[in-house]
Amino acid sequence: MLNAINPFDALMDITARPQTVFVRGEGSYLWDDTGKRYLDFIQGWAVNCLGHSPLCIADALSAQAKRLITPSPAYYNDASLKLAKALVDKSCFDQVFFANSGAEANEGAIKLARKYGSLHKGGAYEIITFEGGFHGRTLATMSASGKKAFEPLFEPKVPGFRKARLNDLDSVKALINANTIAVMLEPIQGEAGVWPATDQFLQELRALTHEHGLLLIFDEIQTGMGRTGKLFHYEHADIEPDIMTLGKGIGGGVPLAALLATDKASCFAHGDQGGTFNGNPLMCAVGLAVLDEVSKPSFLKSAADTGLLLEGELQKLSARHGLGDVRGRGLLLALDLKLPIGAAIVAQALEAGLLLNSPQPDALRFMPALNVTREEIAEMIDGLDAILTRAGAARLVA
Ligand SMILES: Cc1ncc(COP(=O)(O)O)c(C=O)c1O
Repeated sequence: MLNAINPFDALMDITARPQTVFVRGEGSYLWDDTGKRYLDFIQGWAVNCLGHSPLCIADALSAQAKRLITPSPAYYNDASLKLAKALVDKSCFDQVFFANSGAEANEGAIKLARKYGSLHKGGAYEIITFEGGFHGRTLATMSASGKKAFEPLFEPKVPGFRKARLNDLDSVKALINANTIAVMLEPIQGEAGVWPATDQFLQELRALTHEHGLLLIFDEIQTGMGRTGKLFHYEHADIEPDIMTLGKGIGGGVPLAALLATDKASCFAHGDQGGTFNGNPLMCAVGLAVLDEVSKPSFLKSAADTGLLLEGELQKLSARHGLGDVRGRGLLLALDLKLPIGAAIVAQALEAGLLLNSPQPDALRFMPALNVTREEIAEMIDGLDAILTRAGAARLVA
């Protein structure tokens, strides 16, 4: 057993983790070092859009690793050129900068907005973000986030972020001043517990930002790459943001992220932005393989249909156990538990070989592979049903 020799203490203790050690993954399943199998509805935190270790990623990695790993970001490489062109062709954006994590892509978006403000709006630098929002764990992205737990941490924060309330246009209007340069949001607040912005709010934000000459920045790190049943979430609202960030799904499990901007917003000059591993061919080759698969209309249709199936099954489960609403879109869904029992359910699910996430004490979040099957959904629902039945029985007894 690897457990016996695994040096847990050599890793910084940055979060509470069960002592399970994963050693293999395939599709919707993971195996630990004792051989126990788990059905995974977390998938690397909405990362493995094609499931664990899909062949197309393994093939892209090994072929690219044999050909070219990195020539340095000071030179062009064919894989990053192809991926940038493919992203531009499939979106409303004109240029791409590749990064290694979502937080880094968002840092880039914040810098791009500030650069735009210095060039076109008299040095305006403030960005309106949202209560409950999550944009990453660098200092600037923590400052941009509206996560309560971040508030006391790492003071002083990076200045220039004001928080409005999601789906409340007046709260945005009230924060606009001469220093404002952009509005930045996740179209569905994932870490906060899957709280969607309405399409109407997104359309009104677009109109408002146009009216005031502000950039609209969509953080699609969780919602992009087919997660909500369209390649990018902004398509649901039929609007075009000025800047978008992608992460998680774009690498299908490898560290790849992207900052996309329209011609108007893409204003970095030499020296403004960079990074040793940015646009390295190894990761970009994977991004191309993932995008090829995920952007197929048939794949997106199937992910949207599967999302509706999961939503329906969760609604039935909720009705059976007297729970609350199911919210979200596509394959980014949450079930309102009405009670702070999320952590207990997650722990029991782990025991039962089912990986679930509780982003808030009273909610479960579901973010399976986009190619999760009907049978795997049925297996997850059965497992959760059994746990909820036991939890209900325990409440009756107590
Ligand atoms: C919406 C959103 N933005 C940014 C991030 C940060 O991405 P990363 O953890 O890759 O830095 C996340 C990660 O959960 C996210 O969900």
